[in-house]
Amino acid sequence: MAIPESQILYNPSPDDALRLVEIDVDNYLAVLKLKLAEGQERFVADNAKSIVQGHYHEGAWFRAVCLDGEAVGFVMLHDLRNDDPVGADPGAADWQDGLFIWRLMIGQQHQGKGIGYRLMDVLIRIARASGYARLYLTFVDAEGGPEPFYRRCGFVRTGRVIDGECEAVLELTQKPA
Ligand SMILES: CC(C)(COP(=O)(O)OP(=O)(O)OC[C@H]1O[C@@H](n2cnc3c(N)ncnc32)[C@H](O)[C@@H]1OP(=O)(O)O)[C@@H](O)C(=O)NCCC(=O)NCCS
Repeated sequence: MAIPESQILYNPSPDDALRLVEIDVDNYLAVLKLKLAEGQERFVADNAKSIVQGHYHEGAWFRAVCLDGEAVGFVMLHDLRNDDPVGADPGAADWQDGLFIWRLMIGQQHQGKGIGYRLMDVLIRIARASGYARLYLTFVDAEGGPEPFYRRCGFVRTGRVIDGECEAVLELTQKPA
């Protein structure tokens, strides 16, 4: 599905083909239609649930991931400087200096083509531009899960387990390449 250029809100990356696009009445179905590979459902919430949560949590920022105008994935960030962590004891983690990747998925037929890497580059640029020192996330630690991807992106485990998921962090203090 083609998404009009006018919907592009913010893309601090030199990667012109990959855009994070606001979800609206014209494109939300394309995002809901994105499917995960079999068995991946346990690693990330359904996009419909994420979009609802995104609307009701003040610190949430969610976008369709579009490549050449086609929706290929979904991402939701959580600004924990301005909101409490969802589903976790706010005192359990010190996330005040970090931007939290709450949801991230690439549709099944688009996986394995380097889009995840390109998306992470955009997210790192967003976090740096917003003055964050770190990117945080949690992941389900199981066979076939996303940890190898996050490790390749530079995330390391903190050793903390939050709501049954492993926390990982990427330090953003180094200058971008
Ligand atoms: C994890 C995910 C976002 C990666 O996106 P992607 O576009 O397929 O990743 P890329 O093609 O950019 O791959 C980047 C690297 O990570 C590796 N990788 C990606 N997904 C992987 C997986 N599930 N297991 C092992 N390695 C993986 C790739 O092999 C590649 O490594 P290489 O450079 O050594 O070849 C995607 O597979 C996905 O949406 N998974 C299901 C949902 C999910 O788990 N989301 C995370 C919730 S915390």
